[in-house]
Amino acid sequence: MEKIVVKGGSKLSGKIKISAAKNSVLPIIAGSILSGGRCVIENAPMLEDVFVISDVLKSVSAETVIDKENSRILIDTSNISYGEPSSELVRKMRASFLIMGPMIARFGRFKISLPGGCNIGTRPIDLHLKGLTALGAEVSIGHGYVEAVANRLIGNKVYLDFPSVGATENIMMAAVFADGETIIENSAEEPEIEDLAKFLNNMGAIIEGAGTDTIKITGVKSLRGTVHKPICDRIEAGTFMVAGAITRSKVEVVGVNEEHLKPIIAKLTEMGVSLELGEDSIIVDGTKILKPVDIKTMPYPGFPTDMQAQMMSLLCTVKGTSVITETIFENRFMHAQELKRMGANIKIDGRSAVVEGVDMLTGSEVKATDLRAGAALILAGLASEGETVISDIYHIDRGYVDIENKFKGLGADIKRIEA
Ligand code: EPZ
Repeated sequence: MEKIVVKGGSKLSGKIKISAAKNSVLPIIAGSILSGGRCVIENAPMLEDVFVISDVLKSVSAETVIDKENSRILIDTSNISYGEPSSELVRKMRASFLIMGPMIARFGRFKISLPGGCNIGTRPIDLHLKGLTALGAEVSIGHGYVEAVANRLIGNKVYLDFPSVGATENIMMAAVFADGETIIENSAEEPEIEDLAKFLNNMGAIIEGAGTDTIKITGVKSLRGTVHKPICDRIEAGTFMVAGAITRSKVEVVGVNEEHLKPIIAKLTEMGVSLELGEDSIIVDGTKILKPVDIKTMPYPGFPTDMQAQMMSLLCTVKGTSVITETIFENRFMHAQELKRMGANIKIDGRSAVVEGVDMLTGSEVKATDLRAGAALILAGLASEGETVISDIYHIDRGYVDIENKFKGLGADIKRIEA
């Protein structure tokens, strides 16, 4: 089993090029099912999750080629036929569920294993199913599977009780061939939704309003293939910005879209981190005295839940009291237990965590409990006295390409070992 070993204390410096967004590429690969031809995803992040969803497409007889050499994914769905992905594939990565919308749009029926919950929450799919039902699908759940059947999908209005990212994406894709107009109200506004809509529109779909709380999809007959370069990963960018702050160093993140980073920029600025915004880069200067802040995770454009763990690590090193409230997932504080092993002072009370900054964290053996928690433990290790050994790092590899070498490139003392 691999582990990551971080020796704390190094100052960081230099530039880091940010990869394309995992949470954009996954729905886009699912959406390629809607095209009757070939799609090429350029500058694709070579991540475990990307390989899994490519395998899911293969199980419904799409042809997918991962071109690691050129960081591209080639997908040909011209000969796609009806199929059902294996339940272990779907349970391995819940984003596999994003093929439900495209498959029912293309074949009028689909059956898939219910995506399990994960460490951070039960991850229900009721809003996905509410949307498919509104479009005329007959949805049934039984024996651990969900099945949807629809002779014709008819455009309709769907109000999302919660601006769910996945539900917005699944419904948007299901509506692409539906008769007439579909309006999704209270839709998620994340940049990844906008990127998916841009990909689908480039294939011939008619989607308006993506990135706002109301999305209109006008049904079309078919879609052609396209070439797409996904947006950069705002969460990876935020993670490395926090790396600069937590080590009290100066680093530059390159290839970023400042617009997508606004809530993170605002919060770090409020803490006293100075940020110099360039064309597509940000210079982070964490050398000043940092102040405690309160954080409340919200749907975009609020503060992203996927940055909550990383900010908790940072706030553990900032003198004073900070309060973090996690409003998106019901169980996303597992990293707190691990940070406390490193000497952090955190009190969890339901959806809130009260963090008292300490003078110095101490290296320890810790466990990644989910993707972002793993990244947060690396960040805490960078600022700790001594050595931190992180296990269960497969979580981290799902969302970060080559993470230890990226940190090493900034001067961190970090390595991956075979334990
Ligand atoms: C996406 O997950 C991201 N994953 C998550 O990133 C991210 O944390 C999340 O959006 C929120 O921003 C991908 O894009 C692949 P949701 P998703 O549906 O779509 C409730 C990471 O670290 N909900 O917006 O599953 C749900 O329980 C991952 O990269 C329902 O109640 O998130 C949760 O409390 C982690 N019913 C809230 O909405 C539903 O039908 C947010 O879920 C669907 C969701």
